[in-house]
This record gives sequence, C-alpha cells and structure tokens, in this order.
Amino acid sequence: MALVKAADFLWGRLRSPDLDQAEEFLTDFGFVRVARTKDKLFMRGTDPVHHIHVTERGPSKFVGFGYAVASEDDLRRAAKAPGASGIESIDEPGGGKRVRLTDPNGYQIELVHGVEKVAKLPVRENVINWGEAKLRRAGTLCRVPRGPSQVKRIGHGVLMSTDIGATLKWYRENLGLLPSDDVYAGDKSNVIGSFNRLDRGDDYVDHHVFFCIAGPKTGLNHLSFEVRDVDDVMLGHEHMKSKGKYKHVWGIGRHVLGSQIYDYWQDPWGRVHEHWTDTDVLNARAPANQVSAEDGLVSQWGDAVPQEFIDHAIP
Ligand SMILES: [Fe+2]
Repeated sequence: MALVKAADFLWGRLRSPDLDQAEEFLTDFGFVRVARTKDKLFMRGTDPVHHIHVTERGPSKFVGFGYAVASEDDLRRAAKAPGASGIESIDEPGGGKRVRLTDPNGYQIELVHGVEKVAKLPVRENVINWGEAKLRRAGTLCRVPRGPSQVKRIGHGVLMSTDIGATLKWYRENLGLLPSDDVYAGDKSNVIGSFNRLDRGDDYVDHHVFFCIAGPKTGLNHLSFEVRDVDDVMLGHEHMKSKGKYKHVWGIGRHVLGSQIYDYWQDPWGRVHEHWTDTDVLNARAPANQVSAEDGLVSQWGDAVPQEFIDHAIP
C-alpha cells in the first residue's frame, strides 16, 4: 500500500538566475503568466489549473515536482512519513496546503491539495479533415495563426538518477505510481529506464507521469507539457526557431513508449522543456511491460535520439 496515490501532476519547480529571461523563454514556449512576485514566477497552461511551472529566483537548479493529492486525509497521512514536513499552508499565489517530502536524489516532492482553480483559457480551434473524418471541416478553410504553442497542461517529469532502483521504489511506494514500461539493456534485470503512470483505478491516464533514467549523474532530464494538437507542435517549433536564440534538442518525431509526437527545447540555462501531443492512455488494469532499449528508446518516425539528450541531466 502506497503512502498516498498521487492524483495528478501539478508542476515542476526550477530556480533561474533571471526571472525576466525565464518569463521570455516560457512565454515563447507557450505558457501564460498567472502571477509574478519579487522572487517567483508562476506560469499556467490553457487548462483550469492555477499554475504548472514555478520559477524561483536563484542559481540554476531543479528544485522538484509537485503532485496533487485527492484529499486533506492524504495530506495528513503523508505528513506522518519519515522526513515529511508536516502540513504547510502554501504562501504562494493559488494557495493550498502541502506536505513536502524528499526523494532519494534529494529533490523536493510537494504533495498538494486545495490550490485555487482558474478559468480555462480560449484555444485556437483547429478541425482536421483526415482518415475517415474527411468532412469535419466541410466548407470551412484551415487557417492556423502563427505564434507560440498553446501549452494545455503538464504531462510528465523525467529524472536521471545514479540509483534508479531506489528512485523507482520511492516513487511507487510514496506516490502509488504504476510501472507502464521498464526498459532493459542486455539482461532483463538490467533496468536502465522506467516509465510510470498515476494510479487512478479505472480512469485512463497518460502512459507516463514520471520517467526515470539510470545514469552517471543525478538531475532533471526534462519537463514535459501537452499542447493542443499536431499543428500546435509544428507552430510552436517554428515560433521557437524564429526567435533565433533557443537551442533545439530533439524532434519532431513520434515516440514508441507513450507514442507522443514530441519536440524538445532548452531554456537559457539548459533545462529541457518538451512539447507533445497525442499520448497513449492506460488505466490501472494495464500490465507492467518490459521492453528492450533497442525496441523502446527509438522513434516511430523522426530523428534518432541524440546522445546529448540521453546524457542530459541538470542538477
Ligand atoms: Fe518526454
């Protein structure tokens, strides 16, 4: 029995030396600012969640992940875990309560309940005529306005760890995450990566909310955000490219594990942010799967993963 079952992924929390520069990147990436204080920046997507990305002012650092829990009872249970913070009122825009835990890599894991909701933001509607649905836009022209992606919601966070075994055990035991795909190299017992999803019973959830990669260092590999559709991935790519100052890392392609259409960009401090659309969704009944690196860590289409991305981890 897990300590709690994380009900949702809420945010990634980073530290950046310059909030103006951070906001410029995040706005170009497709977030919308919901609040900014003297030393913190809160960005949202189009879904009615208060914020999905937090930047604190300070030397570049990955601080940790925030997950929603379903009830205050879950907070009370979490607060009894060894090393837990106790229940705190969150002194940040959106409010809410939280319990802070520390994962085996030293990162802060916030379990959160009761953050204020916000109104959904309007999105560019874009109806696509394809497959058997050729008449969905009958008589109407497709004209997609150029501009940044429309980030909808946060999808997953990816860590590299020098101790993947302890890390997976911790996330599964404390957050109730379920393995979707364990990736092995050579022998099946040599797990080099693991994709894990939320346990929401019969409800279907993204193929992964947390991916852990075994590596020689510990740090954030990337933060990942869902965008509206395939045009949004492409428009976002062109928008980022048009700025002439952001480093493109990998994409556009379609993953095997999770099946998303992806595109990866670095922020000014090298932290990778992903746009994706169209994920596989599974519920708690799906069995854990084992897949070899050769079969799993490739693309269904698009460029092969660059070594630089495989090795990437920012503490
Ligand atoms: Fe990803």
